[in-house]
Amino acid sequence: MASLAFFFVLISSTFLSSQANNLHLQQLRTQDESFTSILVSQNGLDFVKDLLVNEAISSIIPLQLPATIEKSARIPFLGNVHMVISNVTIYKIDVLASYVKLGNSGIAIVASGTTCNLTMNWHYSYSSWLVPIEISDGGRASVEVEGMEVGLTLGLENHEGTLKLSLLESGCYVKEITIKLDGGASWLYQGMINAFEEQIGSAVESAITNKLKDGILKLDSFLQSLPKEIPLDDNASLNVSFVENPELSSSSIEFDINGLFTDGKKVQPVSNHYRQVFQPSVFCIDQSKMLGISLDEAVFNSASALYYDAEFMEWIVDKVPDQALLNTAGWRFIIPQLYKKYPNDDMNLNISLSSPPVIRISEHNIGATVYADVIIDVVEGSQVISVACISLVSLLIRT
Ligand SMILES: *[C@@H]1O[C@H](CO)[C@@H](O)[C@H](O)[C@H]1NC(C)=O
Ligand SMILES: *[C@@H]1O[C@H](CO)[C@@H](O)[C@H](O)[C@H]1NC(C)=O
Ligand SMILES: *[C@@H]1O[C@H](CO)[C@@H](O)[C@H](O)[C@H]1NC(C)=O
Ligand SMILES: *[C@@H]1O[C@H](CO)[C@@H](O)[C@H](O)[C@H]1NC(C)=O
Ligand SMILES: *[C@@H]1O[C@H](CO)[C@@H](O)[C@H](O)[C@H]1NC(C)=O
Repeated sequence: MASLAFFFVLISSTFLSSQANNLHLQQLRTQDESFTSILVSQNGLDFVKDLLVNEAISSIIPLQLPATIEKSARIPFLGNVHMVISNVTIYKIDVLASYVKLGNSGIAIVASGTTCNLTMNWHYSYSSWLVPIEISDGGRASVEVEGMEVGLTLGLENHEGTLKLSLLESGCYVKEITIKLDGGASWLYQGMINAFEEQIGSAVESAITNKLKDGILKLDSFLQSLPKEIPLDDNASLNVSFVENPELSSSSIEFDINGLFTDGKKVQPVSNHYRQVFQPSVFCIDQSKMLGISLDEAVFNSASALYYDAEFMEWIVDKVPDQALLNTAGWRFIIPQLYKKYPNDDMNLNISLSSPPVIRISEHNIGATVYADVIIDVVEGSQVISVACISLVSLLIRT
């Protein structure tokens, strides 16, 4: 029994945070019920956001902008100068600050104070009445985009048991551009800045916006490809289908999943006998935790019913801390008849459950009622002889 008690105690102390909500006693359950809720707190969201931002940056760079930008500008004394920039490449992005905010419309992620470093090739040519032949030159330039703001709003909904992510809104705004030419005259420098600032800015804006759209599509297909069931062994799997849309509050997202153990082949209905009307809800007050998980008692009961069916709940105990207790010699003064009949034979305990344990969860504790038969066997040579049978009803409570 000790191991069973330990098993439940372990579960309850590591991630159980559950409450029966009697206010909803009469509430009707929908067809697709949720027995496990996962609450992602602001801390968890920040963690995911940082991951996404870092992932986005490393998937964006190096980013070669498709545009070759050409422009003619009138430069004093030189006349009309034709300038071309090409191979504009973003090779570094730094995000100064980013945050994630939840609202009715969705999940907003904003990266502000972003800096981009770019390189590009420049080229110019002109001919003037002073010098009748065409003069041209070219080189490389580095460009710094500063104070860029990138924002997007994501929608998250349940689509047949998986999560569907959509991009509701996105935008990128470049505040300031600095162009530094390697070589080139100062007139060229001015001409470049005046002529190209705006166009490089909008090329960067649209390139990043497009890249984000691609990224969200990829993330969405990743979410869609996640399994709805996680196989645990030959006989059991955990149903992780999402039920209903995620619930957004100002500082957390709650995901409701089915959460029951199923048998893989046949659907394992949770019998009404185990069921107590329960509205899964997470009461995660401690915002320093990233994740809160709430499990309905039906989850435990589906596991216990399943493993009972799989004849899993049988233990043969043949090792104990005081091994002398598992030898008839250890009992010779207490049950002399046993020792007389089977002198110095090893013993074992065969513990089997006579019905699935029933788990009850209430606001203050978790309790399991276990119906078990304990059979005491004596092992004589190759023969196993049952010498006693004890029926137990144990109530394990963890508060
Ligand atoms: C898993 O849960 C979903 C949502 O509750 C349900 O529609 C589906 O039938 C379940 N699958 C199995 C195999 O029980
Ligand atoms: C374009 O820019 C990249 C990155 O700076 C550089 O590796 C590549 O050689 C350039 N290509 C041309 C044709 O200049
Ligand atoms: C890139 O931009 C940063 C500002 O974020 C600047 O300090 C740095 O000098 C730039 N690096 C290069 C190689 O231009
Ligand atoms: C699965 O069930 C079969 C019979 O139903 C049983 O023989 C087998 O040991 C079970 N496997 C596990 C891993 O429980
Ligand atoms: C343990 O007890 C169960 C139920 O009485 C019995 O079916 C099973 O064969 C026993 N197992 C062993 C190894 O004695």
